[in-house]
Amino acid sequence: MSTERQASEVDFTAMRARLRGDWHRPQYHFTAPANWMNDPNGLIQWHGVYHMFYQYNPDGPLHGNIHWGHAASTDLVNWEDWPVALAPTPNSPDSHGCYSGCAVDHNGIPTFIYSGNKRLSETDPTIREQRTCIATSADGLRTWTKDPGNPVIPNVPPGMALVQYRDPSAWREGDTWYQITGAGFPDVGGTVLLYRSDDLRHWEYLHPLYVGDVRRTEPFWTGIMWECPQFFALDGTHILIISTWDHGPKQTAYFAGDYAGLRFTPHREGLLDLGWSFFAPQSFRDDTGRRVMFGWLREERERDALVAAGWAGAMSLPRILTAGSDGTLMQAPAPELQSLRGAHVHLEDVAMTDAPGDVLDGLRGGNMEIIAEFAADDAERFGLSVFRALDGSEETRIIYDRARQELLVDRTRSRADTVPERPVVSGACPLGADGRLRLHIFLDGSIVEVFTNDNTACLTARVYPTRPDSTGVALVAEGGRAVAQSLDLWELASVW
Ligand code: FRU
Repeated sequence: MSTERQASEVDFTAMRARLRGDWHRPQYHFTAPANWMNDPNGLIQWHGVYHMFYQYNPDGPLHGNIHWGHAASTDLVNWEDWPVALAPTPNSPDSHGCYSGCAVDHNGIPTFIYSGNKRLSETDPTIREQRTCIATSADGLRTWTKDPGNPVIPNVPPGMALVQYRDPSAWREGDTWYQITGAGFPDVGGTVLLYRSDDLRHWEYLHPLYVGDVRRTEPFWTGIMWECPQFFALDGTHILIISTWDHGPKQTAYFAGDYAGLRFTPHREGLLDLGWSFFAPQSFRDDTGRRVMFGWLREERERDALVAAGWAGAMSLPRILTAGSDGTLMQAPAPELQSLRGAHVHLEDVAMTDAPGDVLDGLRGGNMEIIAEFAADDAERFGLSVFRALDGSEETRIIYDRARQELLVDRTRSRADTVPERPVVSGACPLGADGRLRLHIFLDGSIVEVFTNDNTACLTARVYPTRPDSTGVALVAEGGRAVAQSLDLWELASVW
């Protein structure tokens, strides 16, 4: 039986049920029914329903044999598994993977534009061709037919030497379609190549929309190639999002600026997430006009642990994007998430010291939302200890460092058995004008996803506590006193 048929006949409910006992598995972040998932793809709201496609390996919990998984939702929070949408076709441009891409409404016809991945060597998977393909659906996004003309862009622009080339992302201006595809110029930097088309099938290459600088390291490194780019108008500015590619760990950045005469001039830039798990996000405009983004949350544990778990990867929470008047990109958790709130504790003016006490008073859990507002007093560092064992032997600290104006997640003692490669993840997080710090934290099995202050910084990290009682929350202040002026904690319901 072909993988394609198996994938459409599998019982997703049973697959999810088998993994229910795994306390590292997220309960309200989207996950694949089992197995490997990575990037969100083809995000679109179609006839009122949100559709999420995602890079999926139906064969197991490691990257490979990439299909497009599919789920649908009416509220961005509760998801229903739909049959796998795309599977590799032997002896075709996507014979070794249907790689990332987007979905557009082409005069009423739902259309995917994605990268086919085709191996050119029997023995070396890195010798491959990645070319732009399209597929359409005639039954409301359930099944998809690949275009007989694939690949619709058969070659990279003539004479161009590139470090990788993939992940088309398209938009329409008037009657004309545009797309950018991620690539890199050797020894120069990441780039996105701009194309134009009238029909999505014939594409004219124009020029690089923007080029990075591979030598630059501050304020962040932008990589040797850019994956999963996206370009869109937002609140009077234009935003280019790119995911920096290299063989090692990677991050996602944005550039904000002016777009005129098919040229982009950025004035502002930043990281979308200060951690190293969030990657390859994609956003779409929903029917209410909001720009909604999901990113892939990579696992941050060893390969053997993925194989043992039988699943890998999750989506970030749906984040609503807005831009400040200076172009600063802001991200807020979608308000729909409030429907998950259960038992609630509200505390005010809690004094914090360096001897953390359990603030939860009976409310413990690995699936929680916390909104905390702090005043620093004289403490050097302050914040929360989460995923905390009753005896304090395991904990993850979400800390604000006043002198450095940095937010950090300290995973040095997150798990008793090992310390992750990057135990402390951190980044710049200026305090609000009133000198206060507001943290909006989501804990979900193995996910810590933090939104800060005016939603100008996010930090997501993965943690894997080993003790079933590592579900406590406490307040901590180091080198002085601080006050939690207001603290709200909710247990969040599972959506699975
Ligand atoms: C990003 C990425 C994309 C590619 C896909 C393959 O995580 O490497 O560039 O299309 O994943 O699964």
